[in-house]
Amino acid sequence: MDARIAVLASGTGTNLQALLDDPHVGHSIVLVVSDKPGAAALERARMRGVKPVVLQPGHYASREGFDQALTALLEEEAIEFVLLAGYMRIVGIATVRAFRDRILNVHPSLLPAFPGAHPVRDVLTWGVRVTGATVHLVDEEVDHGPIVLQEPVLVLPEDDERSLHLRIQEVEHRLFPQAARLLAEGRLKVEGRLVHILEGLD
Ligand code: GRF
Repeated sequence: MDARIAVLASGTGTNLQALLDDPHVGHSIVLVVSDKPGAAALERARMRGVKPVVLQPGHYASREGFDQALTALLEEEAIEFVLLAGYMRIVGIATVRAFRDRILNVHPSLLPAFPGAHPVRDVLTWGVRVTGATVHLVDEEVDHGPIVLQEPVLVLPEDDERSLHLRIQEVEHRLFPQAARLLAEGRLKVEGRLVHILEGLD
């Protein structure tokens, strides 16, 4: 697999690490972009010799200006696929349109249940017994695009937000590289909301 992949991350970057460590996906990651100058994800990129770039929304006059700068950066770097690994901003319409069906997001719930910024907390507050991880294509709406892979995680009586999130992230670290590989190998066929996974390709 010989793709050019960018990862966008705002935080710790454990999903970025899982992607970098994946034997099929890792070597295709050529750019890591963060909106937060102190994000640990940037250091993970540096450690692997992957180009780290900080793009701070506060440096742009408008949301659209930031969005254009991000899209231009991705295009300058000849990026083909974009992976949102704990990227805590809404990707703007310009970027979504420029990379239609080529952006993946990982979300710590079984979408469409519990979208939004703190799904693990919301799951515990609601009292559901089963949650999970979702990898989906990104469209114009938040946590909404067609689902690629999903896996359940049981909520245990003794769980707090941290313990449950850690178990969900273990699943994410397996699911996200798998979905990224399928995307980069051209094995996802999107029909409306449905994503078909094409088997048998090398
Ligand atoms: C992940 O749980 C992801 O689902 C959510 O943010 C978290 C990021 O964790 N969008 P990390 O930065 O990859 O460790």
